[in-house]
Order: sequence, then structure tokens, then C-alpha cells
Amino acid sequence: MIDLRSDTVTRPTPGMLKAMAEAEVGDDVFSEDPTVNAFEKKMAAMFGMEAGLFVPSGTMSNQLCVAVLTRPGDEVIIDELGHIFNYESGAAAHLSSVQLRPLKGNRGKLSRELAASAIRPANDWDPHTRVIAVENTTNKGGGACYSKEELIELSNLADEHGIFLHLDGARIWNAIAETGMEPEFFGSVADTMSICFSKGLGAPVGSMMLASGENIKKARRLRKMWGGGMRQVGLLAAAADYAVEKHLPLLKEDHRRARELAEALSEHPAFTIDLSTVETNIVLFDVNSGTAEEVLKSFAASGVGMIPFGPKTIRATFHFQAVDVDLEKVIEVVRGYGK
Ligand SMILES: Cc1ncc(COP(=O)(O)O)c(C=O)c1O
Repeated sequence: MIDLRSDTVTRPTPGMLKAMAEAEVGDDVFSEDPTVNAFEKKMAAMFGMEAGLFVPSGTMSNQLCVAVLTRPGDEVIIDELGHIFNYESGAAAHLSSVQLRPLKGNRGKLSRELAASAIRPANDWDPHTRVIAVENTTNKGGGACYSKEELIELSNLADEHGIFLHLDGARIWNAIAETGMEPEFFGSVADTMSICFSKGLGAPVGSMMLASGENIKKARRLRKMWGGGMRQVGLLAAAADYAVEKHLPLLKEDHRRARELAEALSEHPAFTIDLSTVETNIVLFDVNSGTAEEVLKSFAASGVGMIPFGPKTIRATFHFQAVDVDLEKVIEVVRGYGK
């Protein structure tokens, strides 16, 4: 099957496996894994942050950020399409005793105006607005990228109110590849960041929290408490480092392929897609009659996997293991749909 259900479906390459096999390792709970230590330093420097913490998943990394920035009873402003709001099993309420305030933004993005409208006054009876959480690129928003100006405006807003900006950068690599923005810029606007190596970059496991040294120290303890302390995990840090070095340059090709698929979809009367929404590796489109499930069944029977994103909406996500011959096949299946 040509698997476009997600960019998390990639398999480690021989080069990645070799890097893993050759990694020098130690006990990371004792901070003695040299590969992890070097990789945390490297990522922190890359994104202009003081320190990093390698963790098993993007969910853990986001939740550690929420935990270190908030106190029970606080409120986190987020777009209603945000991963932290939709796909983290209610963890912010459970682990940090905070409430999320979902807002209707644009394709998963908050504007300064919208976020400002949700910041509460400091009454005893109001939850304290503590964090503005943004996602770049947006997952449920279809891979949309923030501009520098939009992020600076949100960061300034947070500063003006003495609150924090958290950036869920699970797909920050796609934003970097598409916009050419320097990674250090993100560290200059965000107080905490989560970056993932297991999405489009293709590592089998691994995310990293980036923040101040003090917040990473707090998060290190929580990571252990939550069962995320890992031992000879340099094996995985080596895979993640390999992915940054070797696969980051491939992401622009994923974006081109996504646009080519979007164009083919736009030419078929059974589908509706706004081409201007295809910015990175994610393609969201609607089916005009019947349901997404019916179309997906037909695609699957022809060897193409995508996922439903609503009763009539489908998501296709490109990654470096869906190459041009795969794209040709997918386009052929799309063109043949209903014929
Ligand atoms: C935007 C975003 N944030 C966080 C995550 C969570 O990552 P994980 O599945 O590693 O917990 C995902 C997963 O797809 C995501 O798309």
C-alpha cells in the first residue's frame, strides 16, 4: 500500500539503522548517555533555546511544557484544532489541572487579536490565563504555517500580559523547509517548544522539549515521574539526529508532491479542494457525494491509504517514503475514481 495516512508511518532506513547501531550509549536517567546529551545540546542551540530534553513522544513533550508553565486552575488559550486540545487524551486537565480555552482561528492558527480577546482579567473568580499555545505547522488545520510577523505579534502579546507562548513544533521542520525561516527564530518567540523527529523526519521514536535551563530541570523530574525516563536511549537519539541531518532536506519534495496531488484532486468533479490551503505536506479535501469512508474504501482497494478527517473530509500526508512513482500511482487512482 502507498501509505499517506500520516507522516508517522515511515520505517527506519539502512543508514538510520547503522547510525543507531554505532551510537555510543549510557544511562540517560543518570544523564550519562553521550549521544542524548550531545543531541539535546545541538537541538537547543539550533532553536536558540537554553536546553533540551529528549522524550518518547510529542504528547509528553507538549504536556511537560504545559506542566512547567502553569499552576492548577490556570487556563491555556489554544486554537480549537490544536493537537493539545483534540488528541492528547485530556492530558492537560489530568496532569496539570489546567483548562484549555479553544478558539476558532484560521486553519488551526491563532491571531494576536483572537488570542487577546480571550485573555482574562485578574479577578479571583477568573481562571488565570497563563499560556498561549500555538502549533506550527498545524496538523488538523492542514499543514498551515505561521509567518514571522504572526508569531512575533503573539509573543509580544504574551510578554505584555506576563504570560507564556508555547509552540507545538511537531512539524516545525516542514515550516522551516517551506518558509526558509531560521530555526533560532522560534526560540526567540516561544518560551517552550516541542519538536518531533518521528513525523516527516522519519525517526522511529522521539521528541524534544526545548526551554530555559530551569524549566528543563523541572521537566526532567516530571518526565521520570510520568514514566518517561529512558536508559540507553542514545540509540533513538542517534536515529533522530540522523533524521535531522539526512531527511530535513527532503521535506520540500514532500510539499511539491502534496501540491501535485492537490492539483489532480481539484480537476476531479467528485472532490473539492482549495489549492491555496496546501502549504506543506498535508492535503485536506472534501468528497462531494457519499462519505469520506466510502471514498477511502475505494482508494484502499486500489492500494492507496489516506484517513478520514470528518464525515466528508479526507487527509493525505506526504513523507519521504512516498516518492514520485508512488505519487504517480496515487494520481492515477484519484483520476480513475468513480470511472
Ligand atoms: C501537531 C502535533 N503535536 C503533537 C503530536 C503528538 O505526537 P506523538 O504522537 O508523538 O505523541 C502530534 C502527532 O501527530 C501532532 O501532529
